[in-house]
Amino acid sequence: MIRSALLAALMLLPALMTEAAAQSPIVIKFSHVVAKDTPKGKAADKFKELAEVATKGKVKIEVYPNSTLYKDKEELEALQLGAVQMLAPSMAKFGPLGVKEFELFDLPYLFSDRTSLERVTNGQIGNDLFKKLEGKGLTGLAYWDNGFKVMASNRPMHVPTDMKGLKLRIQASKVLDEQMRALGANPQVMAFSEVYQALQTGVVDGVENVPSNLYTQKMHEVQKHLTVTNHGYIGYAVIVNKKFWDKLPPDVRTQLEGAMKQATAYANQIAQQENEAALEAIKKSGKTTVYQPTEAEKAEWRKTLLPVHKTVEDRIGKDLIAAAVRAASGK
Ligand code: LMR
Repeated sequence: MIRSALLAALMLLPALMTEAAAQSPIVIKFSHVVAKDTPKGKAADKFKELAEVATKGKVKIEVYPNSTLYKDKEELEALQLGAVQMLAPSMAKFGPLGVKEFELFDLPYLFSDRTSLERVTNGQIGNDLFKKLEGKGLTGLAYWDNGFKVMASNRPMHVPTDMKGLKLRIQASKVLDEQMRALGANPQVMAFSEVYQALQTGVVDGVENVPSNLYTQKMHEVQKHLTVTNHGYIGYAVIVNKKFWDKLPPDVRTQLEGAMKQATAYANQIAQQENEAALEAIKKSGKTTVYQPTEAEKAEWRKTLLPVHKTVEDRIGKDLIAAAVRAASGK
């Protein structure tokens, strides 16, 4: 009796397993290194919300913010190994993936504003960069905006010569390395999650970043001075493991693409106001003195940093830099 019941249950097992497989959602792990309350953090959460609704629960997006799963370099490795499926690293971090051309976005003063940036990301150059990713087993889905960088340290920084000798944290980009050297500073590559402590303990003297990142990591609490240089840009490329993406059921992929399109519009719409609000909050905190350079000082920063476009020609490509400068200026 017991035996026959067991047998019957065993015979039912394959059917039960198929049903369970059909019901268990496809999981997309989306890892990132910034706080939830930033343009990227909010956009990732928005994508989760939209994607889960669009796929009617067939896909579950697990967002891991603030380096809770992986730090900068590890997350890229994890994506290639398939341990996570989706990332949105800043374009300064694509060198280790073998697509150093993304460092183009780190060139000082390449973009005068967001319109100028969009001419590059939404145009031929943005497209071509995504094509390069395909060869690395990755698919580029979207460009997400953040904003323009400021300088922070414990020293007033009005003109470029004020940066001399400072040890400054940078993202892993050769263009940023050259940029800091042009200022007479000592660049030090460091994962984003380690910066607050490095500033607090004096392992580095300062940092460049967008106000939304400085504020949400409380870096302004361990730095006395900030200068609104707007000398460069931080933005993201949302990338997925190509094998994973190509294997998705076509209807699911289309739904996810739709959700990504909407999340991208949202990301790019909130980025500027998030950074403006963060800069205001930093000023209000009274912990950091925020300095707006004069027109003459701004001209000095430009004059010191623009030669970097030439220094990095070998790495990024002379033609690509020229094309980006042309596209950014709308010519
Ligand atoms: C940084 O490392 O400073 C940034 O790339 C962090 C980020 O993702 O905005």
